[in-house]
Amino acid sequence: MLDLRDLDVWRGPSHVLRNLSLTVAQGEIVALIGGNGAGKTSTLMTISGLLRPRAGTVTFDGKPIHRMPPERIVSMGLAQCPEGRQVFSSLTIAENLAMGAFLRRDDRVAQDLERVHTLFPILRERAAMRAGNLSGGEQMMLAIGRALMANPRLLLLDEPSLGLAPQMIDRIFDVVEAIARDGVTVLLVEQNAMMALEIADRAYVIENGSIVLSGTGAELIEDPKVHEAYLGFETEPSA
Ligand SMILES: Nc1ncnc2c1ncn2[C@@H]1O[C@H](COP(=O)(O)OP(=O)(O)OP(=O)(O)O)[C@@H](O)[C@H]1O
Ligand SMILES: [Mg+2]
Repeated sequence: MLDLRDLDVWRGPSHVLRNLSLTVAQGEIVALIGGNGAGKTSTLMTISGLLRPRAGTVTFDGKPIHRMPPERIVSMGLAQCPEGRQVFSSLTIAENLAMGAFLRRDDRVAQDLERVHTLFPILRERAAMRAGNLSGGEQMMLAIGRALMANPRLLLLDEPSLGLAPQMIDRIFDVVEAIARDGVTVLLVEQNAMMALEIADRAYVIENGSIVLSGTGAELIEDPKVHEAYLGFETEPSA
């Protein structure tokens, strides 16, 4: 469904993605894990058309999209839930969700709003509340809901667990799995490697703008290099 091939991306003077390739098949949850500054957000921004590759291609449903404007990419069925949520704080929940459907020309928006409200009942209960008054977890729900209002076939999620309490992280990840069961393909970026690998069909590890490891979620959880670098707090103490 999504094919990133040999991408080289620069941000100003920094070479942030180096010969990066990855694929996402329809129906999968694919995780991209890596530390601070590894290039996870840059990868998603390149897919969304917010960064332009100097070399390489991004193909979605067989069509090259790396020169398309971002709004056209959204219209093709690819939506991003950005790092740090970026909800419109002075707008209400209902208005934020409406923004997600802004580019749509079809008549199924009400149906998708219903789906978002079913996933996150609190967004219905607090529809008239300003987004700025929500907790971090609720804002995350709103950001995911807003992305779903574009009715994507592929959802890009940038660190949904960032800054949230463990219980809220569990809820968010349950919802990500529910969204995937609903037929939406997911590319999930996370520093929280353990959580991501547990729900991922496949995963990639990015370091310094390059993919250094890939495999099924289960394989990477067992991989000693992944353990050492990303699951340090999860391993049993060697007494
Ligand atoms: N606006 C920018 N201009 C220039 N360089 C940038 C910019 N934003 C990020 N970078 C650099 O690009 C590289 C990759 O950053 P990126 O944000 O993609 O990493 P990340 O894996 O998402 O990190 P994090 O987990 O902290 O979100 C880093 O070296 C970073 O310093
Ligand atoms: Mg990032």
